[in-house]
Amino acid sequence: MAYETILTETQGRVATITLNRPQALNALNATLMNEVIAAAKGFDADAGIGCIVITGSAKAFAAGADIKEMAGREATEMYLADWFAPWEELTRVRKPIIAAVAGFALGGGCELAMMCDFILAADSAKFGQPEVKLGVIPGMGGSQRLTRAVGKAKAMEMCLTGRFMDAEEAERSGLVARIVPADKLLEEAAKLAETIAGMSLPATMAIKESVNRSFEVTLAEGVRFERRVFHSGFANADQKEGMAAFIEKRAPNFKHS
Ligand code: CAA
Repeated sequence: MAYETILTETQGRVATITLNRPQALNALNATLMNEVIAAAKGFDADAGIGCIVITGSAKAFAAGADIKEMAGREATEMYLADWFAPWEELTRVRKPIIAAVAGFALGGGCELAMMCDFILAADSAKFGQPEVKLGVIPGMGGSQRLTRAVGKAKAMEMCLTGRFMDAEEAERSGLVARIVPADKLLEEAAKLAETIAGMSLPATMAIKESVNRSFEVTLAEGVRFERRVFHSGFANADQKEGMAAFIEKRAPNFKHS
């Protein structure tokens, strides 16, 4: 399928979505939003794909929602359109998604990265929620997901001042999983994605669902949910294969990978 604002590529069981509006530092307009969601849903439904990578350019993962597209709009129009709500569809993708972030991840860009399952950051990455400088607040989940990722103090400070956090601080604060040299970002993201895609897909999907559940429910409910999902994993042929392979001291040959 031909897209206007993104590039897509598959390599083995890994799919990559590259944001591609260089003239606007990958600002997230409606077309880009719809295309990212369509591509991600397509890969989610494709049995040949086990992991998705979302990335941008060396200069910008994404510099935020498209300010020029929003600037003249009225509140009622935003409300009726439920502006930004379609992004929630991305969080319903069931396969693991890695955000590979270099350069600016600001506003909606930071929020998009946080919608992914984890962030792999280039040492050039800069994260921020600078909406306050535009006279507004984050609108794609920043006040919620950043707070859960880095805690109240840093989230408040970043959202109230709009300052950027560099990759080192982002790793220290728990916003990103790991930092890699900028020129190795795509290679490292592909390696990570291949590792994940090489696991049993029902297991990686269930892990994603269980970890995400921890943000929605009490500890007791979450632990019970995890245990039930663990039990149901014994209906997956890959459980038999994975455990047999361990005992027989060989590599597993998963059916669902
Ligand atoms: N929306 C629309 N266009 C954008 C954009 C955005 N978020 N960010 C950058 N651009 C455009 C610029 O207007 C410029 O276009 P022109 O050449 O036509 O003027 C082009 O991209 C290059 O940008 P700069 O010249 O500004 O590049 P720079 O290197 O000097 O600065 C930057 C880079 C610091 C990231 C700066 O572009 C910037 O501050 N961008 C806006 C960041 C921002 O405020 N993001 C939050 C947006 S609101 C939001 O995201 C709401 C939400 O919660 C969902």
